[in-house]
Amino acid sequence: MKKCEQLYEGKAKKVFATDDKAMVIVSYKDDATALDGLKKGTIRGKGAINNRMSNHLMQLLEKNGVKTHFVEELNDRETLVRKVQIVPLEVIIRNISAGSFAKRYGVEEGIVFKEPTIEFSYKNDDLHDPLINSYHALALELATKEELETIKSMAFKVNSVLKEYFLSLGVKLVDFKLEFGRLPDGTIVLADEISPDTCRFWDAKTNEKLDKDRFRRDLGNVEEAYREMMRRVFGE
Ligand code: TMP
Repeated sequence: MKKCEQLYEGKAKKVFATDDKAMVIVSYKDDATALDGLKKGTIRGKGAINNRMSNHLMQLLEKNGVKTHFVEELNDRETLVRKVQIVPLEVIIRNISAGSFAKRYGVEEGIVFKEPTIEFSYKNDDLHDPLINSYHALALELATKEELETIKSMAFKVNSVLKEYFLSLGVKLVDFKLEFGRLPDGTIVLADEISPDTCRFWDAKTNEKLDKDRFRRDLGNVEEAYREMMRRVFGE
């Protein structure tokens, strides 16, 4: 597979064309942003950790019947994935109150929900990714009714697989963000990444934060937290 021109550069990843028009190469950066891009920094080693962890989780999900964009890990930072048209929604699942949920509803962090919740944000930087409901997403033609149903059921399936998996590693999966894409034949697949950038992970015993909240909230030991999650997943 030949790496060709850069198609896109986002906050944490670059995307390159390949000589196969159905495939692209994703390259993970160490760059980190938060607060809608206002806070910028570097988390040393993050690109390689997110690449390897996301690929591992996508393969675990595939084994459990969730279709993903993953094709092949090429090296520490780069992965071959199927080219998709991204559905412009951030799909957020929560098992425990934290972050914007706790803030919006005026509750403390750490309330364990009886049932997981789902919410969508409209992926639009100019509008700062506003919260959106499924009727509004339909009105704006961001996705069809069938696609929204598929996305919802895939997101809950991802949650049940990952929640159990992380608990076996001594980690609570508090919440996470997913993105989905369309293959040329219209099939919806899980895309983007699943990593400490896009999930909240709390140690099951101590509730220590092992994710990007350490960067967002200036808690220190950011790189150590990413490395600890790597150790839990790969034993290294
Ligand atoms: P929130 O509590 O700030 O809404 O975040 C919910 C989850 O989504 C959390 O695990 C972090 C993740 N997330 C992203 O991956 N990207 C984002 O831009 C935001 C705001 C949250």
